[in-house]
Amino acid sequence: MAIIVENINYIYGKGLPEETYALRDVSFTVEEGSFTGIIGHTGSGKSTLIQHLNGLLKPDSGKITVGGCDITSKDTVLRDIRKKVGLVFQYPEYQLFEETVEKDVGYGPKNMGMTEKEIQQRVREALDLVDLPFEEYGSRSPFELSGGQKRRAAIAGVIAMEPEVLILDEPTAGLDPATHRDILDMICRIREQRGTTVIFVSHNMDDIARLCDRVLVMDEGQLVMTGTPAEVFAQSQKLKDIGLGIPEAGELIEAMRRRGAKIEENALFPEEAAEIIGRYFRKQAGTKARRDNTDSTGAGMRRGASAAQETDTEEECTGMEAQNPEGGADGGNETC
Ligand SMILES: Nc1ncnc2c1ncn2[C@@H]1O[C@H](COP(=O)(O)OP(=O)(O)OP(=O)(O)O)[C@@H](O)[C@H]1O
Ligand SMILES: [Mg+2]
Repeated sequence: MAIIVENINYIYGKGLPEETYALRDVSFTVEEGSFTGIIGHTGSGKSTLIQHLNGLLKPDSGKITVGGCDITSKDTVLRDIRKKVGLVFQYPEYQLFEETVEKDVGYGPKNMGMTEKEIQQRVREALDLVDLPFEEYGSRSPFELSGGQKRRAAIAGVIAMEPEVLILDEPTAGLDPATHRDILDMICRIREQRGTTVIFVSHNMDDIARLCDRVLVMDEGQLVMTGTPAEVFAQSQKLKDIGLGIPEAGELIEAMRRRGAKIEENALFPEEAAEIIGRYFRKQAGTKARRDNTDSTGAGMRRGASAAQETDTEEECTGMEAQNPEGGADGGNETC
């Protein structure tokens, strides 16, 4: 289900002395089936923006169309929209309230007027998707679960409604690395199995690069950049100017450039950075071997003849020059 946002503005406490202009003329489209990431400095308007996408907040001006339906129109039944667009708030575990996991996850489907049998089926499927099997967890109190399990149970409550669009506001905030990975795997699983359109707010640029096919960048209530992760993260200076970073792999390539390495490409992932850096050092070693070959002295000829065999050793040694900024591009080879 596609979402089209056109020129929306939103002010908290409009007319009051402390009014805050939270969204300014924001426009974008979320394509059906896409995985959209939203990044931005704290207070840039990310949470305000996503609460507009299921009608929880209404813009002061502008238009939002969800699956062809204008949700800013007075005639739209927002309950129908909220079934289609599921919103997982930040720290959703604080919203668990029923005595059992089964009842909590079944709360949404029950409110949708489903039969007991349908509710049970929705709850089982949702718990399976979040890796909390019904048999083991259904009858447990949600308050006895671990932090990561609570978060998964809370997300199950939203996906039990089988939304066509799933919006998650910083779903990995405050989790340990293993649970962080579990939550991301779970989001990918939901998307794969159900074809759900996903919108994902995060401060983690590595996650954004790995998961998203489109990125929206917010700053002071404005949408200041959109594009694929590669397009957005290529503009590292612009991102730094608004208090944002780039993925670790990109930072590594930039650190090498600062130390004199002539690398044109950018990396989003560690594997990509490893390839680029490997290619760079192989090229460096090749350049040195060619230079040695063109040396016309007898000693130079002898060195040149053996240069190709030395390539591996040189690669290892040029690898060391990254730790030795004084070494320069070729100077590092002298350590051989
Ligand atoms: N309920 C509210 N009442 C008044 N102002 C608010 C309210 N919620 C948010 N704001 C203000 O609106 C602006 C945008 O806030 P929002 O929560 O959307 O930012 P955010 O990008 O989600 O930040 P974070 O990364 O910290 O979650 C901020 O200036 C914030 O102080
Ligand atoms: Mg927020």
